[in-house]
Amino acid sequence: MSTLHAPRHVAIIMDGNGRWAQNQALPRTAGHEKGAEAVRATVRAARKRGLECLTLFAFSTLNWQRPTDEVRDLMSLLENFLVDELPEMLQNGIRLVAIGERELLPSRVRKRLEETEARTAHNEDMTLVLAVSYDGRRDLVRAARQIAELARRGELLPADVDEAQLAGSLSTADLPDVDLLIRTSGEIRLSGFLPFEACYAELYFTETLWPDFGAEQLDEALANYAHRQRRFGLTGEQAAALG
Ligand code: FPP
Repeated sequence: MSTLHAPRHVAIIMDGNGRWAQNQALPRTAGHEKGAEAVRATVRAARKRGLECLTLFAFSTLNWQRPTDEVRDLMSLLENFLVDELPEMLQNGIRLVAIGERELLPSRVRKRLEETEARTAHNEDMTLVLAVSYDGRRDLVRAARQIAELARRGELLPADVDEAQLAGSLSTADLPDVDLLIRTSGEIRLSGFLPFEACYAELYFTETLWPDFGAEQLDEALANYAHRQRRFGLTGEQAAALG
């Protein structure tokens, strides 16, 4: 419970594509394209390191407010990623899961996501979760409504609602809690990412801009995590005794 194992579930807020492009005097799209390459490299590295679950914040609900062209480019990148990476996901035992309000996505992207989920559903070596049109509070509200509906139908008593019930009603229902949450680009905030699931996560902030992230930077984050003691409310001595 206390120490220094490899994380089961790593979640990443991929930030800094725009600044990376700006630094190179390139359009923002170029930053997102390079960011998509970083996604490929990071997924590959995570699989090699034996992570059970990797969740990537690819598009937040608030990102819909970006310029239309940028949103369109991001959707295309997502679609291309799903098409290009399917063979490797199948070959490497990667199951793809999408969380977020998929009904808001363009139908082509939604269909591609659902097709990829279906084709990879039986893979067991790693789960890759893409958060698209995702916002943690909205997911909590959706879960609360679902629970309220069960109560209204008489299938659940208010006293039966506990952490497991709530966790099981979130879009991340069958995934382990987040152990390590990484954010790139020097921003130090959580932006509505997995508020319930990452409640006890270790947080890791790096100045690296997302397009420059890859195997080496993931290893740095994992090494940093390995040196932390997770106490879950215990004293350091108690936690150490539990190993
Ligand atoms: C943040 O950078 C990044 C995003 C809003 C989108 C993340 C998307 C990708 C990495 C590429 C496509 C995704 C997949 C899964 C293939 P920003 O634009 O907010 O950067 P800035 O803060 O420097 O402007």
